Amino acid sequence: MNRTDLKVISDKAKQSHQQFKHKICVCCGAGCISSGSESILIKLQTEIAERGLQNEVEVIPTGCMGPCNQGPLVKYLPENTIYQKVDCNNIAQIVQSQLMEKKPIEDLLLFSDFHEKPFINSADDPFFSKQLKIVLKGCGDINPDEIEDYLAHDGYLALGKVLFQMSPEEVIAEIKHSRLRGRGGAGYPTGLKWETVYKYVSDQKYVICNGDEGDPGAFMDRSVLEGNPHRVIEGMAIAGYAVGANKGFAYIRGEYPLAIKRFEQAIKQAKKNGLIGTKILGSEFSFDIEVRIGAGAFVCGEETALIASIEGKRGTPKPRPPFPAESGLRGKPTLINNVETFASIVPILNKGGEWYSDIGTPKSAGTKVFALAGKINYSGLIEVPMGTTLREIVFDIGGGIQGGGEFKAAQTGGPSGGCIPAKHLDVKMDYESLIALGSIMGSGGLIIMDEKSDMVDVARYFMEFCMDESCGKCVPCRVGTKMMHDLLQKIYDRKGTSIDLERLEELAIYVKETSLCGLGASAPNPLQSTLRHFREEYESKIDLEF
Ligand SMILES: Cc1cc2nc3c(=O)[nH]c(=O)nc-3n(C[C@H](O)[C@H](O)[C@H](O)COP(=O)(O)O)c2cc1C
Ligand code: SF4
Repeated sequence: MNRTDLKVISDKAKQSHQQFKHKICVCCGAGCISSGSESILIKLQTEIAERGLQNEVEVIPTGCMGPCNQGPLVKYLPENTIYQKVDCNNIAQIVQSQLMEKKPIEDLLLFSDFHEKPFINSADDPFFSKQLKIVLKGCGDINPDEIEDYLAHDGYLALGKVLFQMSPEEVIAEIKHSRLRGRGGAGYPTGLKWETVYKYVSDQKYVICNGDEGDPGAFMDRSVLEGNPHRVIEGMAIAGYAVGANKGFAYIRGEYPLAIKRFEQAIKQAKKNGLIGTKILGSEFSFDIEVRIGAGAFVCGEETALIASIEGKRGTPKPRPPFPAESGLRGKPTLINNVETFASIVPILNKGGEWYSDIGTPKSAGTKVFALAGKINYSGLIEVPMGTTLREIVFDIGGGIQGGGEFKAAQTGGPSGGCIPAKHLDVKMDYESLIALGSIMGSGGLIIMDEKSDMVDVARYFMEFCMDESCGKCVPCRVGTKMMHDLLQKIYDRKGTSIDLERLEELAIYVKETSLCGLGASAPNPLQSTLRHFREEYESKIDLEF
C-alpha cells in the first residue's frame, strides 16, 4: 500500500460501513467478556441474520465502553442508546423493541440519545457528560479485530501525514508543543524524551511500549490494548520515525491474554497492509514491532528491569544514568513510553499540539484515563481533562459511595501513591496538586474507600505488595519493606507501641532515600500519606505509654 492507496482504502472502508443503517456494538473488553458478552454477540448476530437484517445492521465486538460494573453492555448506533446488564434472554426482545418498533426496554436502558425523557440522555448523565475521550475515543465503537474499521475511523492517516509532510524534528516539536507528559507514572515530558533519543547518533535505536501495568486495581492500558490496538501501533511507528528507530517492542503483561491476542493480530494486519514493516506506505521508513510477554513481576514495569527482561535476563533494575534514552536495549538509545502515552500521539498529530495543550491545566495538559474502583456506585474506565476535581470524579461520574456510605479517602498511584482524605475532595487531579498532598497521579488507578476502610490496613496491604514484589537487589528495599511491613502488621494487630511508630517513620525516610529504583523509593508513600492524613488511626491502635 502506498500513501494514495491509504486514502482510497480509508474512504472505501468508510463507505462499506455507511451501507449499514444501524450498528450494534457489544462490549467485548475483558470485564464484559467475563460476564458473558461473547455469547451475547453470537446471539445478536444470529438474531439479525434470522430476521434477514444482515445487510442493514452491523453487529460488532468492541473494547471497553466504560461503565464496567453495568456490563454486559450493548450499544445501538446511530441512536446512541446503551443497554446494561444484558443477557442472552434479552436479545430477541431488544432487537424487536429497539430496532423494529423504535421503543426502548426501560428496565435495561442505561441512557439514550434517541428515546425522549424520562430516559436519560448522554448529555444529562454525568458519567458520560463530565468525561472527555481522547485516548479512549474508538474504544467501544471500533472493532479491534478488524483493521478496516480502524481505517474507516481515519486510522493511520496521522502516520501517512508524518511520513510525507513532516520531518522528525517537526514531529518532535509538535509533541513538545502539546505538553504531553508520560502517563506511566512519573509524568516526564514526552517531547523532551523523544528529542533526547533523537539526538543520540547510533546505528540502531529502539522504541518500547510499556504495557506491564502491574498496579493493583489498574486496567487502563489493558483496555486500550484490547479496545484500540492499532492506535498504539500507529503511535509507536510515529515515535520510531521521530527518534530514528526501526524496531519496536511491546512489553505486555502475561495476565492480559486478550490484549496480547488482539495486539499481535493487529500487528499482523498492519504488516499485511504495509502500515508497518519495510518501506512503510512506499516511504524510506521501515519499522517493525514484536510483542514480549511479561511474567507477572511488578518490578518489570520499571524501565531498566523491563529492558533486561526483553534481553532475556533476570528483570531487575539498574542504576541510572545511563538512562535508556542513551543506553537502553542492547546498549542502544531506546525510547520507552507507556501505552496511554503512545495512544495520545495520533490525536495530537491529527489535531495539533496547540489543541491538546489547551486541554487540562497549565502544567498538566490533556486528559487522563483512570480505572475507577472500590466503594463507588459506578466503577469502570473513565477519561477526564486534567484538573477535574476528585469530587467530580467520585460524586458526578462515579455516582457517589456505594450503599449511601461516606467518602473516606481515594487511593491514587497504587503502591507508589497515597491516600487523599475527604477534606481534600476538591483537589484538582493533576500531577502537581496530587504531589502537594503527598500522593501521585501514578498510572491512573483510583480506588475509592468508605468510612469502614481501615487506613492502617490499607498501608499494610500496599507494603506487603511492595515487600512481595521487591526484586531483592538492594538491601534498603529488600530488608526495609519487610521491616516496615512487620511493624505495620504489629500495629494493625494492636500490639505496637509509640516506639514502633517512630521506627516506622524513620525507616520510611531511609528506604526512600537509599533504594536503587522507584519500587523501593516509593514503597513508603502509602504509609507516609496515611500517617499524614490519618495519624489518629495509628495512634488509636497503639499503646502510647511505651
Ligand atoms: C516499580 C515500577 C513499576 C513500573 N511499572 C510501570 C508500568 O507498568 N507501566 C509503565 O508505563 N510504566 C511503569 N513504570 C515507569 C517506567 O519505569 C517508565 O517511567 C515509563 O514506562 C515511561 O513511560 P512514560 O514516559 O510514557 O510515562 C514503573 C516504574 C517503577 C519504578
Ligand atoms: S529498590 Fe527494590 S525493586 Fe528496586 S532494585 Fe532495589 S530491591 Fe529491587
